[in-house]
Amino acid sequence: MLPSASLLFVASLLTALPVNADGIYPKNSPVLQLNSKTYNSLIAKSNHTSIVEFYAPWCGHCQSLKPAYEKAAKNLDGLAKVAAINCDEDENKPFCGQMGVQGFPTLKIVTPSKKPGKPRVEDYKGARTAKGIVDAVVDHIPNHVKRASDKDLDKWLGQDEDRPKAILFTEKGTTSTLIRALAIDFLGAIDIAQIRNKETASLKKFGVTDVPALVLIPGPNAEPKIYEGDLKKKPITEFLSQAAKPNPDASGRAAADSKPKPKPKQKSKPASKPTSVADEPDINPTASQDQDSTEPSLKPAHVPIPAPPIPTLSTPESVEASCLAPKSGTCVLALLPGASEPDAALPQSATDALASLADIGHKHAQRGAHLFPLYAVPAINSGSGILREALGLQADDAQTVQLIALNARRGWWRRYSAEDFGGVAVEAWIDSIRLGEGAKEKLPEGIIIGAEPETKQPVAEPEAEAEAEADEADAESVEPEAEEAEQTVEHDEL
Ligand SMILES: *[C@@H]1O[C@H](CO)[C@@H](O)[C@H](O)[C@H]1NC(C)=O
Repeated sequence: MLPSASLLFVASLLTALPVNADGIYPKNSPVLQLNSKTYNSLIAKSNHTSIVEFYAPWCGHCQSLKPAYEKAAKNLDGLAKVAAINCDEDENKPFCGQMGVQGFPTLKIVTPSKKPGKPRVEDYKGARTAKGIVDAVVDHIPNHVKRASDKDLDKWLGQDEDRPKAILFTEKGTTSTLIRALAIDFLGAIDIAQIRNKETASLKKFGVTDVPALVLIPGPNAEPKIYEGDLKKKPITEFLSQAAKPNPDASGRAAADSKPKPKPKQKSKPASKPTSVADEPDINPTASQDQDSTEPSLKPAHVPIPAPPIPTLSTPESVEASCLAPKSGTCVLALLPGASEPDAALPQSATDALASLADIGHKHAQRGAHLFPLYAVPAINSGSGILREALGLQADDAQTVQLIALNARRGWWRRYSAEDFGGVAVEAWIDSIRLGEGAKEKLPEGIIIGAEPETKQPVAEPEAEAEAEADEADAESVEPEAEEAEQTVEHDEL
């Protein structure tokens, strides 16, 4: 029933963790809350560009994105839609799978195409900052504003003669986001053009002396009206509305205030049809989920490719060089159990652990996301025994795989203590390392090759550690205050 492996992962994780069923955005948040049903009417059928966050409430990266995302929503108010959907809700899960969501948060920019109801859907993989998000969304706002000149203004005025027209006189050669958004709000109702102030005949025709100026021509025989108010969206919308009403999905809370809010259907109807999107007639099952696709595919977009195995460190020297040099950053090592016979198969726990790490590494590599290195260390490598002994793992059953993470530079290590080596559990552990969460132990003296005891760094304070970890994860911003800094943030998983 569940369309993708990632959702199975999610489903099994849900049984393991205490879950907050509520979304992370409160009712009064500037972020528009969606479900699988309202996505279609509010986003797919909109004339406006949207960004949609697919999230799960328990996901740490989703929570850290929240301040930037709400800030982006405020900045884009009236220009584009900033929405979020809780993929943790049962009724939304199939939909999130159909949209190809494999990790949280996933951000997708939905751009209307020429075909109504069939938008272009692209992953947003830029910085998880308000600025990064706003810039990318603004770049995707369609431009329905005619750029007119003295030569063709009359022709444009003569088209669809009965339809009201508005002309922005400006010194700019570019089309501002605001005027583009207004043209979308009034699409089909008022045609909008812009004309540069060097087109003097046109200025003269409408008696415009100062730019910027906005002129409304309510109809073929009506007197043109010059707008004199603030160059803000709300008063301009009111001014234009005397000629024609804006479209139903005119964006912005200012516009939304004047009309009844759509009732969240989710509340009044039980989720009797969990696969509502699959029922949509206009979904083309052969569409792919790439940049040119105009709608979500019915097929899970991801065809799992077997992940290549993680690299093996087969000598003590390679372990030292990779993970135990004084400057080595975070490393994850799977210390494999010793086999009783040379060719004996590894126990299931070890093969599971290796498969989980391979999947996690592969997933990051496919996304071009940073992850610390993951290595397998066979028992035959004496470096494995040395580490086990130094870290006090000797007492453990030699038949068990040990997953450890260590950071020589910062002098800490930690051990995976669960008995389940499945993908979800191991990935949650990897994720906690990335976030700098969870308890660390001090690496015993003498493990770091060539380090003087006095130059070895102490185990950092928890907060500093989280920051340091974030630095390692390619300058990931975990501090909301840092959100405006021009840092690039990787697309994080679950
Ligand atoms: C989208 O634009 C068309 C005109 O092209 C208009 O008729 C329609 O109402 C708009 N859709 C929404 C949802 O506002």
